[in-house]
Amino acid sequence: MSVATETTPNATAGETYRVIVLDDLAQEGLDKLDAASGIQYDIRTGLAGAELREALAGYDGAVCRSGVKITAESLEGNSQLKAIVRAGVGTDNIDKVAAARLGIVVMNTPAGNTISTAEHTMALLLGLSRKVAPAHASLKAGKWDRKKFKGSEVYGKKLGVVGLGRIGQEVASRAAAFGMEVIGYDPFLTRERAEAIGVRKVEQVSEMLPEIDYLTVHTPLTPETEGLISTEQVKLLKKGARLVNCARGGIYDEAALVAGLESGHLGGVALDVYPNEPCTDSPLFQMDNVLCTPHLGASTEEAQVGVAVEAVDLLVNYLQTGEIQSAVNTSVDPSALKSVKGYADVAYRLGMLLGQWHGGAIDKCELGFNGDIAEKDTRILVSAFCAGLVENFTDEANIINAELLCRERGIEFTRTENPLPGTFSSQIVAQVSGDGNTCSASGTVFGKNMPRLIKLGDYRTEAYMDGNLLVFHHQDIPGIIGYVGNVLAEEKVNIAQMAVGRQGPEAGGKAVGVLNLDSEASEKALSRVTENSAIDSARLIRLPRAGDLPDWLM
Ligand code: NAD
Ligand code: MLT
Repeated sequence: MSVATETTPNATAGETYRVIVLDDLAQEGLDKLDAASGIQYDIRTGLAGAELREALAGYDGAVCRSGVKITAESLEGNSQLKAIVRAGVGTDNIDKVAAARLGIVVMNTPAGNTISTAEHTMALLLGLSRKVAPAHASLKAGKWDRKKFKGSEVYGKKLGVVGLGRIGQEVASRAAAFGMEVIGYDPFLTRERAEAIGVRKVEQVSEMLPEIDYLTVHTPLTPETEGLISTEQVKLLKKGARLVNCARGGIYDEAALVAGLESGHLGGVALDVYPNEPCTDSPLFQMDNVLCTPHLGASTEEAQVGVAVEAVDLLVNYLQTGEIQSAVNTSVDPSALKSVKGYADVAYRLGMLLGQWHGGAIDKCELGFNGDIAEKDTRILVSAFCAGLVENFTDEANIINAELLCRERGIEFTRTENPLPGTFSSQIVAQVSGDGNTCSASGTVFGKNMPRLIKLGDYRTEAYMDGNLLVFHHQDIPGIIGYVGNVLAEEKVNIAQMAVGRQGPEAGGKAVGVLNLDSEASEKALSRVTENSAIDSARLIRLPRAGDLPDWLM
């Protein structure tokens, strides 16, 4: 692959985002980059290893196809890159977990090449059945051989389709138009949907193998689909079955294909994709009844323009507005996040508060969503809670990587939803535990965007989750608030707001005080507070000022 570099002429220093184009992209996509304001781009194809890592470190966004391999190593230490957009569907050439860990959103353009790939699948299926390629080669070599290239009809034959997503469904409808009977396997496809698209659904791949004449796969390459068709499955296939793969190399085990063709058990194999690409040397290329193309499924004028334009739009929009669309490494839906903005802020603040309050290694978080909020997308609120929790130990946390960072530290989450309202129309109840210590707190939103702490441990309160909090546990007796106020006054710390809460309804028991301070209380001030024998503990919790939102929530 050649290496080319080109820089947009319209980029203005100082107010630009830098974008790197890592694979060949249709001109229409580049034209969009040219036209976008505040975007400067370089085309640098053929990068790998250290060269790729160094290049990526200098860009805010990247656009690629399947050529470049963006590994964990190539992202290592990258604090600049914000998004990678794949012009196409498959993102198996990008280490999405490594990207998420660094807060880099990975997006793709899932629908742009569906039709092209479905059509290519049909082209391979028909080409294989009618021996188009060898007949053409023979004629070009000057031979007129009509016997050797006798093929077979697809009409009336059975086609097995594994993976009935976008492409699989388009293939199924085209196959039906050719008079084929379609049998499908996809664990995520309902029987009703299968019926609606004219597919007979089976519960396992092995169930369809003995009866089908053709097999085509349209799944992603995952640990479950890698080697989906190996020696054992080839043996189950009907003698003479023909196999097509326009999805990803590795779904069919190549050695099993070679053995199946050699023994004559397989009638033919057509491949567009290979375990290692580019691939110019495969034992299959030399065999009869094999039809291969160099990953051309999406190589049509229409698909390439479509995915390039969509990829550039996604990237530019994300860089300019922060709006995430079609992300594949984060479950955060920006519009859903917006719809729970106030509660996301509360969840985030609860995460920060409990992380600091607990102070040790947390291994379990239990989050409950009660009242109206239970009807919303509470997974986002879990992510927001995680962002608050991890903010205590890393400055690289955001809504995209936070949950992953927590899980990587062995923190487990449980989430419960109860739509029945309690004292408040909505509340988030959070509990963290680990190291033999458990801490809990509940929060809600007053008005539209005023985060409130309504319970801390066993104490009901109504405190502002705003800035520096001095939290002190004490005996519920006269004079305590005055005492703490005096200490802070002597330490020159101003109190902005205050709230107290009791464990039970009666005076004289245990209580908690939450003071919002205009500046941080020093260690000396905290230890002076606890000099009073009626005060059990005093701690400072650092939260953002009310209204100060993390970037991802702005
Ligand atoms: P899709 O996400 O719409 O569909 C994939 C389907 O596979 C889903 O319905 C999913 O439920 C199903 N699936 C996942 N795991 C499965 C399993 N273990 N068993 C059975 N089904 C399973 O994706 P798509 O757009 O249809 O793309 C399908 C594949 O085609 C992807 O691997 C993509 O990279 C590849 N692709 C190749 C080309 C090409 O140029 N050859 C072009 C586009 C897409
Ligand atoms: C895809 O996943 O979109 C295809 O494999 C096509 C491509 O690589 O561009």
